[in-house]
Amino acid sequence: MDVCHEQYGYDPAAPSLCEAFKDYFRVGAAISTKFFDGEHEKELALIKKQYNAFVLSLQSKPSFIHPAEDRYVFEPVDRFVAFGKANGARLRGHTLVWHQSVPDWFFYDKDGNTVGADLLIARMNEHIRTIVSRYRGQIDSWDVCNEVFHKDGIHFRDTMWYKIAGTRFIKEAFRTAHEADPDARLILNDYLLEETEGASETLIRFVTEMVNEGVAIHGIGLQFHHYLKYSNLENVKKNIRKLLVLKDIIPGFKLEVTEFDMNCYDWDEQATDVVWTDELRELYRYKYVELFRFFMELSREGFLDSVLFWGTNDGDSWLNGFPREHKNYPLLFDRELKIKPVMYDLLDLAAGKI
Ligand code: GLA
Repeated sequence: MDVCHEQYGYDPAAPSLCEAFKDYFRVGAAISTKFFDGEHEKELALIKKQYNAFVLSLQSKPSFIHPAEDRYVFEPVDRFVAFGKANGARLRGHTLVWHQSVPDWFFYDKDGNTVGADLLIARMNEHIRTIVSRYRGQIDSWDVCNEVFHKDGIHFRDTMWYKIAGTRFIKEAFRTAHEADPDARLILNDYLLEETEGASETLIRFVTEMVNEGVAIHGIGLQFHHYLKYSNLENVKKNIRKLLVLKDIIPGFKLEVTEFDMNCYDWDEQATDVVWTDELRELYRYKYVELFRFFMELSREGFLDSVLFWGTNDGDSWLNGFPREHKNYPLLFDRELKIKPVMYDLLDLAAGKI
C-alpha cells in the first residue's frame, strides 16, 4: 500500500481544500489551458472545486509568451485570465524574468553578438510593460524575477541577465512592473530560501538595498519543493521566519507559497518507485500536517495568504521526471484524481481538530 488509498475513490462530493482553509489562505495549483479544451472534464471539475488560486505552469513563461522580439502569444494567458475571472480565483503570473524558458533574442543582436546592458534592459522593460499592462487588474501577483540567487545562497546566479546587467536587471524589472500595474503584488520567487544556509540573509540584504533605492517589492515567493526525507522541518521554519524582518521595511509584507510539492525521493536516489513502509507513510502525513500548521501560523500573523501546489495530481507533477524518471507522490490527489488520506488530516487541521 502506498500513500494513496483505495478506500477513498474519486468523489465529486468530496470536501474542498480551498473551502476548508478559506479563513487562512487561498489554496491553488499550477495548471495548463489543456484543462479547458473539453477533454479533461474530470480534472476541470477537480480544480474548480479544490482550488481558488491558479498559475500557469508553462504558458506565461518568457519563451512561450514572447518567443520572438516582435511576437507575443497571449491567447493561452487570455484564456487563463478569463477562467480565473469566471471562477473568482486569485491569479499569479509566472514569471516575467528567468534564466530558463527564455528565448535567446533577449541577449543577442542580429549578428549574434551579446547585447549591452542598456539594450537588454530596454528589451526586458518592453516585455514587462506589454505583459503586465495587458493583464493589469487581472493578475494579482507577479513573479517578477525567478531564481536570481546562486545555489550557494551567497552570490547572484551567473545568468546572461546578471552577466550583462548585474543586479540592475532585477531592480528595473520591479520598477517597470510597478509602473505597468501599481496594484499588482510584486514577488521575488526562489527555491533556496527554505533550506539553504545563508540564503535568507543574502535575500534580506538585497531586498533592503532595493527598498532603500525606492524599488517597489511586496513579497517573497517560497517555491517550497520540499523533500520528504531530506528536508529538515525545523530548519525550514527557522529560515522562513528570518524573512519576516522584511515587514519592517515593506508595508503589508507577504510571503507566498508558490510551488509546493513533497518529493518522495532524495536527490541522488536511483529507485523508480517508493517502498512505502509504515514509517515513511507516517512521515509523509507528519510533514504535510506540520507544514500546513506552519502556514496557518504565518497566516494568523498576517504574512501568508496564498499556498499553491505545482500541479494538480501526482500524474501531472514534474517530479516524476526530475532529476530522473521515477514514480513520485508529491501532491494531494493521486494519478486517478483520488483524494489521499493525508488530505483528510489537512481538513481536520483546518477545522482545528488536530
Ligand atoms: C521551478 C520553476 C517553475 C517550474 C518548476 C518545476 O521551480 O520556478 O516554473 O518550472 O521549477 O518544473
